[in-house]
Amino acid sequence: MDIESIAGQIDSEIQNVNSAQKLEAFRLKYLGRKGVLAELTAGIPTFPPEQRADFGRKVNALKNRINSLVQEKQGSLGGGESESATAAACDITMPGIAEELGSLHPITATIKEICSIFERMGFAVVEGPEIESEFNNFTGLNIPLEHPSRDAFDTFYLKDHGASANDERRTTNDRFLLRSHTSPVQVRVMKARKPPLAVIVPGRVYRPDAVDASHSFMFHQVEGLMVDEGIRFSDLKGVLEVFAKAVFGKGLKLRFRPHFFPFTEPSAEMDISCIICGGSGCSVCGRKGWLEILGSGMVHPNVFKQAGYDAKKYSGFAFGMGIERIAMLKYGIDDIRLFFQNDLRFLKQF
Ligand code: DAH
Repeated sequence: MDIESIAGQIDSEIQNVNSAQKLEAFRLKYLGRKGVLAELTAGIPTFPPEQRADFGRKVNALKNRINSLVQEKQGSLGGGESESATAAACDITMPGIAEELGSLHPITATIKEICSIFERMGFAVVEGPEIESEFNNFTGLNIPLEHPSRDAFDTFYLKDHGASANDERRTTNDRFLLRSHTSPVQVRVMKARKPPLAVIVPGRVYRPDAVDASHSFMFHQVEGLMVDEGIRFSDLKGVLEVFAKAVFGKGLKLRFRPHFFPFTEPSAEMDISCIICGGSGCSVCGRKGWLEILGSGMVHPNVFKQAGYDAKKYSGFAFGMGIERIAMLKYGIDDIRLFFQNDLRFLKQF
């Protein structure tokens, strides 16, 4: 094939090159080690001497032309391709991809809210261990060994000294257990501090209850304790009223019902007017118009005695409430298990 017809062929072939692979094939066909140009170059010596120089120049010119065609094409293919690839990957008119933001678990949020309400009234937040001594969980709170009120606080005992946990060693008072309420922190605080004191104690508690819509073997409580000279029941009522109205709204009514707790005397349960029906009676309040939300009372003199406080000099109040119950009422949740299933469809709502 003569140089002119090769040149014509090149022009039409390069038109059809529309990808990097085709361009490489084209380059190899003409410029490769065994390509057309190599062949033409190898043929130069076969020409009569007077034609060689002219033919050699033509071969060279063709080679340069092909080189620049390849480069040009590379530029338009490569550049064009990456520009359109970028345009496809980045459409600046599309909405952005939002980062997933975490949020507080509703129980954590409720604990924080409750603690901050009491902190504004001068209470300090303290915590105690979940593994507790039998003394702090019971005896120090005026719940003596063998006293039937212990049954009300069904308890997970830890195995100790190789003995089985719930065996007859009920006279030793030295077992360890998973605390069944946050009240033992009262004992710890009173042993560590002198009055005046006002503390709020959030934390986990454990009871061997069968799990259902309103029971869990682990749940959360907040305990409160205030001790000083001259603390009265009216102080308890005032503090709890501020708390309840801050959580559930100003229009709320409160009701204190006499109750029994071993560690307080007198003791009372506090009800709030039903936040669903406002007191007229509905399925949430069981048609009573009232919702029970916490236990409370004036610290029993025996609790002061166990802690080494002078029960004649000091008085105080205490209260305890279940966080899940408060959160369920506040957010309208009807199954306690939802808090612990880690289901994002539930958790994302908070
Ligand atoms: N510890 C009690 C319970 O778990 C709640 C409670 C009632 C705590 C009265 C108190 C209190 O401090 O005074 O059921």
